[in-house]
Amino acid sequence: MMHQPGVHPRTLGYLGRALSLEYSAVQQYMTQAALTEAWGLREAADRFRAETVEEMRHAERIVKRMLGVGVVPNASQLRPVAVADSLVGLLQQDAVLEAEIVALYDEATRFCRSMGEMENAEFFQGLLNDEMAHAEEVDTWLKTLGAGQHQGWNERAYF
Ligand SMILES: [Fe+2]
Ligand SMILES: [Fe+2]
Repeated sequence: MMHQPGVHPRTLGYLGRALSLEYSAVQQYMTQAALTEAWGLREAADRFRAETVEEMRHAERIVKRMLGVGVVPNASQLRPVAVADSLVGLLQQDAVLEAEIVALYDEATRFCRSMGEMENAEFFQGLLNDEMAHAEEVDTWLKTLGAGQHQGWNERAYF
C-alpha cells in the first residue's frame, strides 16, 4: 500500500498515536464500566459504557482516515488501564487520559494546518472538539462528586 503523496510522515505518526490512544481509551472505559458495575454503581457503569462506544467510533474514524491516506492501521502502544479504588479516582485517571488526547489532537491539528494539509487538519480538529467535550464532561462529573480536577491525588498539601 502506497501512502498518499503530500501527506507528511509526521501526520501518519499522529494518526498512529491517535489510534493507540483511542484504543487505550476504549480499554480504560470498558474496564471502568465493568468495575463500577461490580461496585453496584449502575448509572456510572452506563455512562462508562456509552463512553466506550464513543471512543470506539473515534478509533473507527482513524482507521478509515488511515486507509484513506494509504496506510495500514498499526496501533502499537496500548496503555495499561489506570485503575483506582473509587469513582473519583477513576475519573481523575480519565481526566489525565483525556487531557493527553486533547494535547495530541491540538498539536496534530496545528501541524497539519501549518503544512497546508487542510483535510487532515479538519479531521483532527473534529476529534479535538469531541475530546475537549469529554474532558469537560469528566471535570463536571468530578465536580458533582465534590472533587474538582484541582483536588485530589495530584494536589496534596505537604506540611
Ligand atoms: Fe476519543
Ligand atoms: Fe475521549
